[in-house]
Amino acid sequence: MTEIRADEHGRIQLPPEAFPNGGLQPGERLVCERDERGLRLHYARPDARKLYLEVTTACNLSCAMCIRHAWQDPVQSMSAGTFERVLDGLRAFPDLRRVVIAGYGEPLVHPRLADMAAQLRDLGAGVTLVTNGLLLDRARAQALLDAGIDTLVVSLDSLHVQAYEQAGVDGGLDRVLENLHGLSGLIRRGGFKKPALGLEFVAARSNLPELERLPDLARQVGASFVIVNNLLPHTPEMAGEILYDRDEPLRLGGGWGLHRGGWIAWGHPKLPRMKWGAGRKCPFVNDLSLTIGWDGEVSPCTALMHTYRYYLYGRVKDVARYTLGSVHERPLVDVWTSDEYVTFRGRVHDFRFPSCVECGMDCTYAQENIDCFGNEPSCADCLWAQRILNCP
Ligand SMILES: C[S@@+](CC[C@H](N)C(=O)[O-])C[C@H]1O[C@@H](n2cnc3c(N)ncnc32)[C@H](O)[C@@H]1O
Ligand code: SF4
Ligand code: SF4
Repeated sequence: MTEIRADEHGRIQLPPEAFPNGGLQPGERLVCERDERGLRLHYARPDARKLYLEVTTACNLSCAMCIRHAWQDPVQSMSAGTFERVLDGLRAFPDLRRVVIAGYGEPLVHPRLADMAAQLRDLGAGVTLVTNGLLLDRARAQALLDAGIDTLVVSLDSLHVQAYEQAGVDGGLDRVLENLHGLSGLIRRGGFKKPALGLEFVAARSNLPELERLPDLARQVGASFVIVNNLLPHTPEMAGEILYDRDEPLRLGGGWGLHRGGWIAWGHPKLPRMKWGAGRKCPFVNDLSLTIGWDGEVSPCTALMHTYRYYLYGRVKDVARYTLGSVHERPLVDVWTSDEYVTFRGRVHDFRFPSCVECGMDCTYAQENIDCFGNEPSCADCLWAQRILNCP
């Protein structure tokens, strides 16, 4: 605790011990937030560590569960010019560790994907790709390996399988499985330890029995992890499919063994929380992550990067896209260190939001994704902060 007293002119000076861990750098900028109880000082540093990049909102499928049915956002892909601005902007972040190419759309429909991944890798960041796997044929898989992608997540669940049929893709499941086997073969034959291969499975009432087969499927296709996720329902019918109102844990065997370069590696599942609880921690803000859309607009997380409707325990929620600036208007580091973004992260970090789920008022604030503390947007109802929704 540091005691600070105002001088005879009512001014204060902060002693060095107020800033542990090396103190402040000469000329360093801080953002001061005021409320009726006092002041909060926030560092405004280029300390982002992880980027979620949405290279396209186009897709070769139209899964019934997907937000793409519930939004009015345009179907567009990132231009070369926007990508250059993003790449340029990222150079100002010395601690950038990972870029996750994901978002709502299918990254493999972007014609320059492998090239973009290679340029992101050259920044020194690990690159993760999340894909539905349909287009992951041998040539594309090799191009992604050459680009140095170090983690590949392929979505595989009954909701995707239904979408193959609806899109008229003959033998879609066989094609995805063949692509996964092909990729594993390339990794094995090349003697690579990377990329780590994972599956993502959205769990719902109707596909619950498939869950227990996941470890075996993962072992067969050479996947070293499985991300099991809950469903974010965008329609009342989908709301009847959620599993996190049952007060029951998900049951999914233990780990599984994999042959990797003469070693046996151990595969593992990453399970979501299955119940709303008191602990609230934002996986995006706490991990110093940001998201960038196809148009170069910066948002704090996947939850706030589109305008859409969802249903939460019987209530309707209308989320409006929340952006803090665009790479076309100013350097990315200026967006990250802007007063609005820095204070937003501070509020999320301390989780200064009410708990609308427990309040029970069903007020119009909650429906509009704002809250009675004056937050706009509000994180009060966030399923990611509950870890009921997982992110890669
Ligand atoms: C939106 S997709 C984008 C990447 C790619 N098109 C794919 O399907 O993997 C990313 C992940 O979100 C999941 N997802 C889609 N709609 C969802 C929903 N309503 N609730 C939870 N996860 C969802 C998908 O299953 C996928 O694993
Ligand atoms: S493949 Fe992915 S982005 Fe495309 S509709 Fe399905 S979940 Fe959405
Ligand atoms: S708590 Fe949820 S809505 Fe708020 S920033 Fe984090 S992920 Fe986004």
